[in-house]
Amino acid sequence: MILYFTGTGNSKFAADFLAEYLGDECLSLNEKIKKGEDIKENSEKPYIVVAPIHAWRFPLKVEEIVKRAELKGSRKIYFVGTMGENSGKTDTCLKKLCGEKGLEFMGFCGVKMQNNYLIGDVMPNKAVAEENLHEVIPALESIAEKIKNGEKIEKTDKTPFTFLVSGVVNKFFTKFAGKYMKPTASDKCGACGICAEFCPVNNIEIKDGKAQMGEKCISCFGCIHRCPTEAVNIEGKTEKNGRYLCPEYSQWKKAHE
Ligand SMILES: Cc1cc2nc3c(=O)[nH]c(=O)nc-3n(C[C@H](O)[C@H](O)[C@H](O)COP(=O)(O)O)c2cc1C
Repeated sequence: MILYFTGTGNSKFAADFLAEYLGDECLSLNEKIKKGEDIKENSEKPYIVVAPIHAWRFPLKVEEIVKRAELKGSRKIYFVGTMGENSGKTDTCLKKLCGEKGLEFMGFCGVKMQNNYLIGDVMPNKAVAEENLHEVIPALESIAEKIKNGEKIEKTDKTPFTFLVSGVVNKFFTKFAGKYMKPTASDKCGACGICAEFCPVNNIEIKDGKAQMGEKCISCFGCIHRCPTEAVNIEGKTEKNGRYLCPEYSQWKKAHE
């Protein structure tokens, strides 16, 4: 059973790849979190959680929902992070969480994909982004093969100042990012509602002909990258950097075989 959370589709792409390779099924944590539901699952196959790395850890919402999850059947759980660069001590944090839940930690591995952190990073055009996905496949295959054989996985990336970035910096990010990196919609907003429909924490409302963001943002950047008129931005920081959405794995595979 593969549980995934995604902002711009990278983690869904990885989850769908693993599901196909392992003949397993996917469950969207976005939907569960959006509906305020907890996870109650029964799987004979090991559990696999796939999520983006946000400030050198899994997003807090993901850690929290996994912590509360009622997972029956298999006691084994794997974690796969999609990331732009490195994962800090995500592995140690998740191992601790497993210990608290009585689950067998089968390891964490980060996979490098397009960095969707628009601040200071210019997004490639669609064709280049799709071409770049070829480079992701060998890493996903290697993880999938290990899971298939019941072997543990481990992280391959290195992060300078790991303790600091996944500790104090992550805590600071979790507490203040929603406030100081708050997305807002400009007058270009067409009130289409795509951002509100996607927002995993129901932080967006269409009011007075425009998207209005509340105070619950978890900085997944999903609303910014999905806005068809590029009206949603972190003011002064993301307007000129393009947009990125990862294609659906099945469609990408068909187009690139
Ligand atoms: C707010 C934010 C923080 C991020 N922090 C990190 C990080 O600490 N390390 C890293 O390698 N990538 C980081 N990234 C990049 C994402 O982890 C990466 O692009 C990921 O594949 C996005 O997955 P998604 O499309 O499933 O949301 C960050 C992205 C965002 C939006």
